[in-house]
Amino acid sequence: TPAGTMAFLWPFILVAASETLAMDMPHPTNPALYRLTKHLLQKYHKAVRPVHDWTEATTVYLDVLVHAVLDVDAQNQKLKTSIWYHEVWDDEFLSWNPSMFDEIREISLPLSDIWAPDIILKELVDFEGSPNLPYVYVNSSGTIKNSKPIQVVSACSLETYAFPFDIQNCSLTFSSALHTVHDVNLAFLRSRGDMKHDKKEFLNDSEWELLSVSSSHNILQSCAGESAQIQFHVVIRRRPLVYVVSLLIPSIFLMLVDLGSFYLPPTCRARIVFKTSVLVGYTVFRVNMSDEMPRNALSTPLIGVFFAVCMAFLVISLFKSILLVSFLHDEWSAGQEWPLLCLQGDTDADGPRTDPRAQLAGATEPPFCQEHQVQPGTMKEVWFQLRSISTYFQTWEQAEQQEVTWLALLQRFDRLLFQAYAVVLGLYAVTLCSLWALWASS
Ligand SMILES: *[C@@H]1O[C@H](CO)[C@@H](O)[C@H](O)[C@H]1NC(C)=O
Ligand SMILES: *[C@@H]1O[C@H](CO)[C@@H](O)[C@H](O)[C@H]1NC(C)=O
Ligand SMILES: *[C@@H]1O[C@H](CO)[C@@H](O)[C@H](O)[C@H]1NC(C)=O
Repeated sequence: TPAGTMAFLWPFILVAASETLAMDMPHPTNPALYRLTKHLLQKYHKAVRPVHDWTEATTVYLDVLVHAVLDVDAQNQKLKTSIWYHEVWDDEFLSWNPSMFDEIREISLPLSDIWAPDIILKELVDFEGSPNLPYVYVNSSGTIKNSKPIQVVSACSLETYAFPFDIQNCSLTFSSALHTVHDVNLAFLRSRGDMKHDKKEFLNDSEWELLSVSSSHNILQSCAGESAQIQFHVVIRRRPLVYVVSLLIPSIFLMLVDLGSFYLPPTCRARIVFKTSVLVGYTVFRVNMSDEMPRNALSTPLIGVFFAVCMAFLVISLFKSILLVSFLHDEWSAGQEWPLLCLQGDTDADGPRTDPRAQLAGATEPPFCQEHQVQPGTMKEVWFQLRSISTYFQTWEQAEQQEVTWLALLQRFDRLLFQAYAVVLGLYAVTLCSLWALWASS
């Protein structure tokens, strides 16, 4: 029956209908966009530089916005920044009449399907996490806009001399990898004055502060011909507050304590203990600090030099104290302890010198008497005894004299050391202040 045949045919009819629908499907919503893309790319050769007259150069307009300073690595001389990179150029083969395509004035095209300039960053060490954006915008007069955020690790000569009041000037140089200026020229997208002080995009709350981004355009002569390059000089300044609080103030306190130890009398044994504790404190401080201080093979931060000089002073004065005490020890007792009592009673320099005289007299006279009391009575013996006492006192006086000059010498050396130390600390303060003033004035 016809009805049965129809029921049998229905599935085929449906399938055929859906297939014809599917064939019409591709761009039912915006055929203009589809037509335009086809119109632009069908006969396009991306290998050809997009100019009608080959003698004409393609000008690429560049712009860079510094978004953040992520890392300043003084040890490896690398700067890691996040920047917004814009490039704009004209493609003479990609223009159309908007009235023929539903008034479309701008479309996006895959970057991989069109000609693009080979702009590279000369200081580039490493591309880090830069997204590879696949599309660019093209408007009806053929102007192509390509924008992308990039994280660049660039080589930069970083000066750590004035740390933590340092200012870094790093260049980002863009140029065509291959083309000469006769094929690909470079130009600025915005005026250089606008670019210089544009900090709108910059993240303000990091360790580094953006001072300016100045730029220059120049033509390089090389064996391959003349090529154009554009340089951006990114000038950044460190915010030193955290280092002032964690490095400079503690170091100044340590140095003052160290300086104060010169007020202990030089013959004092407690001075050795005191200086040793300061030295230990210093070492702990320096170990802590070594992570915070930038390390650079060529230039040491000035404050590092100061720390080393202060440590040298500490070590020299400690050595001097040790020498003095060991000298006094040898001189004054064959096995007998001379109490270097500086923290009890009189602490002036001649105190310890009068002290041992009484003690020595008390300690050495009794054996003298006992030895010569074996045959008392004779005048000769008395005379002999007197003479021995007198020679004893003479040699003792000589030793005393020697020691006084030795002590005076050491005391003078101590004073000299103190003065040199004070001068170095003064220099340190003056240098820090002038570095700070320089930093603030930039
Ligand atoms: C295309 O963009 C360029 C640069 O922004 C502009 O000068 C030009 O007028 C634009 N063309 C059209 C048709 O909008
Ligand atoms: C940064 O360095 C470049 C040369 O390397 C120089 O032309 C520019 O003036 C410097 N900028 C500042 C602010 O020092
Ligand atoms: C950073 O500070 C400058 C002015 O000091 C301001 O114009 C800019 O908008 C700030 N940037 C951000 C991201 O907050």
